[in-house]
Amino acid sequence: MFVISIAMDENQGIGYKGALPWHLKEELKLFKENTLHQTLLMGQTTYDGLPRKLVDRKIVVCSSDSNYKVEDEDACVIYDLEAFLKEHENTEETIIVCGGASIYRQAYPYCKKALISFVKGEYEVDTYFDIFKLEDWDITKEVEYEDFIYREMKRKEDC
Ligand SMILES: NC(=O)c1ccc[n+]([C@@H]2O[C@H](COP(=O)([O-])OP(=O)(O)OC[C@H]3O[C@@H](n4cnc5c(N)ncnc54)[C@H](OP(=O)(O)O)[C@@H]3O)[C@@H](O)[C@H]2O)c1
Repeated sequence: MFVISIAMDENQGIGYKGALPWHLKEELKLFKENTLHQTLLMGQTTYDGLPRKLVDRKIVVCSSDSNYKVEDEDACVIYDLEAFLKEHENTEETIIVCGGASIYRQAYPYCKKALISFVKGEYEVDTYFDIFKLEDWDITKEVEYEDFIYREMKRKEDC
């Protein structure tokens, strides 16, 4: 099962100049808690932009460059995202989709659960997650932090 993990601002902005538009310690802490000992899926750009190695997580990196390799022994590279999504759509293993924009766009229809930090305010952004519609999801958990509201959601049956 695919689970999307994302933070977005009030305009559904998610990135600026290849990085996150904000620095929210609590949000990063939550990301760590949610992803520890899990399998993560992310694009090459997001993976290469990680400020440090994500320990105790298995990472599947999506790239279109057949020469692209990763040194981290806990990471592997896939070159055919669609095949990967179809193959794992109904597996019991949880795979957390961690971005960036292009991977979110393609994997979103396969995600049955969502872990979303709704960042308060409007930031300077150049990347959006505008395909997301709140009405397609049932909220199962909600926690308010100073800078964001964290919601866990389950996709509605008919969406
Ligand atoms: N707010 C959040 O929660 C959050 C989380 C993560 C990232 N982000 C933001 O998202 C932005 C980065 O997004 P991005 O779209 O530029 O990068 P990305 O999705 O991380 O990675 C793009 C890479 O994946 C490859 N790729 C995409 N689709 C593919 C496919 N179907 N098959 C094979 N390879 C594929 C691309 O190759 P091609 O170029 O050849 O297509 C490119 O090398 C940054 O600003 C980052 O900070 C935000």
